[in-house]
Amino acid sequence: MMRLLGPFSGLEEYVTENVPLARYTWIKLGGPARWFVRPRTLEELQEAARRCVENQIPIYVIGLGANLIVSDEGVNGAVFRLSEEYWRSVEFNEGAVKVGAGVDMQKLLLKAVRAGRAGLECLAGIPATVAGGIRMNAGGKYGSIGTLVSRVTVMDTEGTVFEQTKDDLVFDYRTCNIVAKFILGATLELEEDDPHRIVERTKEIWMFKRNSQPLNTPNAGCVFKNPGGGSAGQLIDQAGLKGMQIGGAAVSTKHANFIVALQGCKAEHVMQLMKMVRETVYYRLGVLLEPEVLIWP
Ligand code: EPU
Repeated sequence: MMRLLGPFSGLEEYVTENVPLARYTWIKLGGPARWFVRPRTLEELQEAARRCVENQIPIYVIGLGANLIVSDEGVNGAVFRLSEEYWRSVEFNEGAVKVGAGVDMQKLLLKAVRAGRAGLECLAGIPATVAGGIRMNAGGKYGSIGTLVSRVTVMDTEGTVFEQTKDDLVFDYRTCNIVAKFILGATLELEEDDPHRIVERTKEIWMFKRNSQPLNTPNAGCVFKNPGGGSAGQLIDQAGLKGMQIGGAAVSTKHANFIVALQGCKAEHVMQLMKMVRETVYYRLGVLLEPEVLIWP
C-alpha cells in the first residue's frame, strides 16, 4: 500500500487518491475524486472528516450516484462513500426497520417483502442508498421515503453524532431539512401486511417504471423537477425535444425528463443538453425548469 502524503497520511487503508467516479455514478460518467474515502467504522469517518476540516478540503458524500452528474474534470475534494459492511446493517423491529446509511433500497425492499413489511413499495425501481434516498426524499407518484422516516442518525463535519426525530424532520419534494453533512442511518416505519399483497403492489409500481422510463440505458434519473402542478417530462416532450442529442447525450425517447448516455458520452454533453432543453422549454412554453439532479462540483 502506497503511503499517502499530506492531509490523509496514515489513513491509506480507507483513503485513496484520484479515483475515477464514473463507476460510482449510475450514468457512468465523470472525472476523478481527488480523494476517495471509504471508512469502515464511525471512528474512521470521524478521523477523515476531521482531516478535511483541518485542511479545508471540501466534503462530498456519494450514495449510488443515481441522481448525480460529476463533471469530466472531477472534484477537487474528498468524496465519502459509506458502503462498507459497517454501514449496511438491517434490523427489523416491531413496526419498524433500523438501517445503516449504505443499505441499498432495492435490497431492503426485497427483505421487507419477505418479512411481510409494507411501505417501501413506493420506491420500487428507484436506485438509492438509504442515506441518499433520505437526503433527496426519493420517490415518485406512489409516495416518497420521507413519510416512512421516524428517526435519523447524522454526523456533522466536526464528528458530532446526533439524532433527529420525526417532529424536527421536514421532507419536501426531493429535499429535506437535514443540514448535517453525513446521514449515518435511519429508522423507517413499516407496517405488517400480507407478503403476497406487498409483492403485487411492488410489481405494479415496478412495471409502471419499466414501461415509462429508460431503465436499461445509463441515466441520472429525472433531470428536472416537476414544476408546480406540471410535468417536466410532458413539457420537454411537448417542446419537441425527445431524441435530441448532443454528443453522446440524448433526451430519452421513452421519457423526456431522462437524459441517457450513449456511446462516447461525456458529462459535458449532458450538461450542454440540459442547458439546451431548459432554454428551449422556456422559449417555446414559457416554463423555466429547475434541475433535480445534483451537479458536482
Ligand atoms: N409524459 C409525456 N412525455 C414524456 C414523459 C411523460 O407526455 O416523455 C407525461 C405522461 O404521459 C404523464 C405525465 O407526463 O401524463 C407524467 O409522467 P410520469 O407519470 O412518467 O411521471 P413524472 O412526473 O414524469 C415522476 C417523478 C419520477 C418518478 C415518476 C413515477 C419527478 C420529476 N419525476 O415522474 O421520479 O419515477 O413520477 O413515480 O418528480 C426522479 O425523481 O428521478 C424520478 C424519475
